[in-house]
Amino acid sequence: MKPNHIAIIMDGNGRWAENCGKGRKFGHQKGAKSAREVVRYIGSLGIEYLTLYAFSTENWGRPIKEVNLLMSLFIETLDLEITDLNDNNVKIKFIGDRSSLKDSLVKKIEKAEILTTTNQGLKLSVALAYGGRWDIINAAKNILKKIKKSEVNPSDLDEKLFSSSLQLGGNPDPDLLIRTGGERRISNFLLWNIAYTELYFDDVLWPEFSKNNLDQAIEFYKERKRRYGKNV
Ligand code: FPP
Repeated sequence: MKPNHIAIIMDGNGRWAENCGKGRKFGHQKGAKSAREVVRYIGSLGIEYLTLYAFSTENWGRPIKEVNLLMSLFIETLDLEITDLNDNNVKIKFIGDRSSLKDSLVKKIEKAEILTTTNQGLKLSVALAYGGRWDIINAAKNILKKIKKSEVNPSDLDEKLFSSSLQLGGNPDPDLLIRTGGERRISNFLLWNIAYTELYFDDVLWPEFSKNNLDQAIEFYKERKRRYGKNV
């Protein structure tokens, strides 16, 4: 069976640009093009959920020039793609700490979410200013607020309630997590949600990630036997 939810850590833009003898901006621009192609292709395969790690809480530690460049690129890409995404029935949502983003970006994000809210096609989540640990703490805080208001009883707290309080909310957990760029780590992405996710690491740098690379990742997934800790 093909995966129903794919999550991707898009890594290697900087190294790709360096290999081309260009600056990091060039790499991120090409990375945005790769993301565009992957969204289209995954949508065409009938996969229901895609979650992309675009900017982590740790990425704030990059030089200010690169952070600003990435933020401008997100705004630009959203402006450029939103009509097409909507026409293709994609429902977009952003996960992460919006309070840390510029107002102009938050406005665009909200507008895009509202525009596509009733779409029934691919559910695309873009992680911006996102960290898995932040997500867990944020969920805990939200549950505590509900307990304080007597909307939730502490004895009601279980995995289901906790999951629904996380940023991905009602989405099923990812079946397959792909990381490009050769590193074999999770880098604080979706920590709770990937408890039983199949992990696929590809050495290809993100700007060069192609349909063929994605097909290979899906083939890898299809060969896995998912036991969820059970001996079946
Ligand atoms: C990793 O490359 C990529 C990022 C920091 C995220 C930026 C992602 C994009 C620009 C893709 C566009 C996505 C959307 C949704 C518009 P890196 O800089 O860490 O590469 P390096 O490890 O080679 O330095």
